[in-house]
Amino acid sequence: STHRREMFSSRNVFILAAIGSAVGLGNIWRFPYVSYTNGGGAFLIPYLTALLSAGIPLLFLDYALGHRYRASAPLALRRVGRKWTEMFGWWQVLVCFVIAVYYAAILAWAAMYFIFSFTEAWGDDPEGFLFGEFLQVAETPHIGFDFVPQVAIPMLLVWVLTLVVIGLGVKKGIAAANLVMIPLLLVMFLVLVIQALTLPGATDGLNAFFTPDWAALAKPGVWAAAYGQIFFSLSVGFGIMITYSSYLRRRTNLTGSGLVVGFANSGFELLAGIGVFAVLGFMAQASGSAVGDVASGGIGLAFVAFPSIVSSTSIGPVLGVLFFASLVFAGFTSMISIVEVCTAALQDKLGLGRVQATLAVGLPMAIASMLLLSTTTGLFFLDITDEFINKFGILLGAFAMVIVVAWVLRKIPLLQHHLYRVSTVRFGSLWRVLVAIVVPVVLGYILVNEVIKHVTEPYGGYPLGMLGVFGWGMVASLIIGAAILAFTPWKHGTIETVDEL
Ligand code: PHE
Ligand code: NA
Repeated sequence: STHRREMFSSRNVFILAAIGSAVGLGNIWRFPYVSYTNGGGAFLIPYLTALLSAGIPLLFLDYALGHRYRASAPLALRRVGRKWTEMFGWWQVLVCFVIAVYYAAILAWAAMYFIFSFTEAWGDDPEGFLFGEFLQVAETPHIGFDFVPQVAIPMLLVWVLTLVVIGLGVKKGIAAANLVMIPLLLVMFLVLVIQALTLPGATDGLNAFFTPDWAALAKPGVWAAAYGQIFFSLSVGFGIMITYSSYLRRRTNLTGSGLVVGFANSGFELLAGIGVFAVLGFMAQASGSAVGDVASGGIGLAFVAFPSIVSSTSIGPVLGVLFFASLVFAGFTSMISIVEVCTAALQDKLGLGRVQATLAVGLPMAIASMLLLSTTTGLFFLDITDEFINKFGILLGAFAMVIVVAWVLRKIPLLQHHLYRVSTVRFGSLWRVLVAIVVPVVLGYILVNEVIKHVTEPYGGYPLGMLGVFGWGMVASLIIGAAILAFTPWKHGTIETVDEL
C-alpha cells in the first residue's frame, strides 16, 4: 500500500527550516565563549576542521537516512536495519523529548527579557533579579516542586505556540514559521551586530575574540571543544535532520543543501561571535575592566551581562530588544524541530494523524516541562540535564548510530550511492572514510574523556543524589525507554509501506 507523506514545497524551504533548526542558542551564546576560551582566533582551525571532517559528513548521513527511507528517526533506523536497530532512533526521539522539556524554559525567559528590555525590571542588579525575583531559585540544590507563576505563564505560551505550529503540519506550520522567523532573525541580528560595532570599546572586544593563542592548538581539549561545538551546533545525530529530510522530494540535491546549511550555520556563529564580543568590549570599557573579566557565555551572558548593558547606556534598550528577539526567534525555530522529531516518530509508529500525534506527544511534554522547570528548583534540573543530555544523550547517541549503520549493518556504501545519485556535489569515497572512521574515532575520544571527567568530579558540585536522578538516571532511562519502544509493534504494514511524495 502507499501513503502520502507530507513534504516541503521546495528544496529552499527545506534549507531554510534546516538552518532554522541549526541556528539556535548554541550559535548566539555558546559559540562566542567556546571560541574565546579555546584559543581565540586560533580556534578557527580546529573549528573548520571539525566542520569539514565530521559535522558536514554526519549531516550527509542524517540526510541520506531520512531521504532514502522517508521516515522519522526510528522508522528510518528500522528500515535500514533490523528490529533492534530501531532502538537508536528511539534514543534520538527521547533525547529530543528531554531537550524540549527544558528548551521551552529558556525560550520563555528570553521572551520575558524581551519585555524587560523595555521596563528594565532588573533595576541595578540583573544577577540578583534573575536568580531572586524572577526565577526565585532555591537556596540549595534539591528536587522540589515549588511553583513560580511568572515563569509558568510564558512557558505555557511557548508550548501552546509550539504545538500549534507542529499541529499545522510541515507546510503550513513548520515551513511557514521558518519563512517568517529566519529572515527576521537575520535582519535583526545584522542590525544588532552593526550597531554593536559602532560602540566605543568594540574593537577591544574584537581583539580579545580574534587574537590567536597558537599554543591552544597543541591541546587535545581544544580540538574536543571544536568537535563538540560542531555536533551540537549543526543539530546532527539526534534525529532532527533525519526527520526534516524525510519531507524532501525524491530527486533533491542533498549534498548541496547540506553544504549550504553547514556554512550558513557557521557563518551565523561567526557573526554572533563578532556581535557578542563587540558588545562585551563596550561593556568592559564602560565598567573600566578587561574584556576577559566581563566575558561569559550561556545564561550569564544572556540574562546577566546583556541586561546590565541595557541599563548602563542609552543605546542599551535597543541592543537588548534586538538581542532577546533574536534569541526568541533562533530558539523557537530550533524548538519546533525538536518537537517534530517526536511527533513524526509517533505518527509513524501508531499511524496517528498529525493533530492526534501532536497532542499525544505534546501534552505530556508540556506538562513535564512546566512541572520540572517553572519551579524554584528548575534551574538545577536544567543545568544538570543539559550537561548530561549533550554529552551522553547526543554524542553517545550519534556514536552508537554511526557504529551500527557503518560497522554492524555496513550500509555506508549504499547510503553513499543514494546521496550521490541525487546530488550534484560529490566527494568520492572521502565521505565514507570521514563518516565511518573519523567521526566515530573523534566521538569515541570525546566520550571517553567526558566519562572520566564526570566520574572523577561530580558535575557542578551538585549532590550525588541529584546527579544520579537528573544525570545518570535520566541517561539510563533513555536507554531502557528506547529499548522498550523498539520492541513495541508498529501499526500494521508501516515498515514495508512506501511513502509517496
Ligand atoms: N543547533 C542548535 C544550536 O546551535 C541547538 C539545538 C537545536 C539544540 C535543536 C536542540 C535542538 O543552538
Ligand atoms: Na547552531
